[in-house]
Amino acid sequence: MNVAAGRGSIVEGEFVFTADDFRHIAEMLHAHAGIALNEGKAALVYSRLAKRLRTLGLTSFRDYCALVEGVDGVDERQKMTAALTTNVTRFYREPHHFDDLRDRVMPELAARARAGGRVRLWSAACSNGQEPYSMALTVLQALPEAADLDVRILATDIDPNMVAQGHDGTYSEEALEPAPVTLWRKYFDRADRGQWTAGAQLKRLVSFKELNLIGDWPMKGKFDVIFCR
Ligand SMILES: C[S@@+](CC[C@H](N)C(=O)[O-])C[C@H]1O[C@@H](n2cnc3c(N)ncnc32)[C@H](O)[C@@H]1O
Repeated sequence: MNVAAGRGSIVEGEFVFTADDFRHIAEMLHAHAGIALNEGKAALVYSRLAKRLRTLGLTSFRDYCALVEGVDGVDERQKMTAALTTNVTRFYREPHHFDDLRDRVMPELAARARAGGRVRLWSAACSNGQEPYSMALTVLQALPEAADLDVRILATDIDPNMVAQGHDGTYSEEALEPAPVTLWRKYFDRADRGQWTAGAQLKRLVSFKELNLIGDWPMKGKFDVIFCR
């Protein structure tokens, strides 16, 4: 391994990674996704992006920055953002939010939906779908007929891989464990190898779309509930 610290590298490794490279990447990420990185994240940025440099056959972070910034860099900018964002999520992560949704918010929304009204919820950074499906299970708990009423949950994320996983809706039994067992066993269908897939009612309630929150929002209607976590 070529230890590059002597050439101004701020992280030891096979590629030179200077403070300027770090600042450049942090600026591009901030401009593209609104994410702020402090210098303490330099080693993380290096380790996440070193794989991209190897895949692209590049030999320096300077060349990588030039590629991302160039006219042909749109695709790589998206890959860089996906590599640098954290997609940590869980079913019912921070469960008091779902308790609140069920106990304080859903009674009024359920009454409105049953009276023929429109109800919209949004998971604004949905990762691989565990958040919007947790919202959907909570809605179904309060309003079992929700999928037949004018109730919908929009699930969006900047990362197209996460959006595709959410759309697919397949999770391990271990991942589903934090959800109330009677609920997920009712609304998920058993798939292969201990996996479960979101069933028809969940699929009707939740729709997935790619969306960068710092870009334009195509949605025009109002939302009753927004999870942005
Ligand atoms: C830590 S995860 C949280 C997932 C989920 N909301 C939860 O609380 O369990 C953050 C998510 O935000 C997404 N994200 C980051 N910047 C974004 C942006 N500018 N627009 C849309 N999504 C973004 C990431 O791709 C990631 O999936």
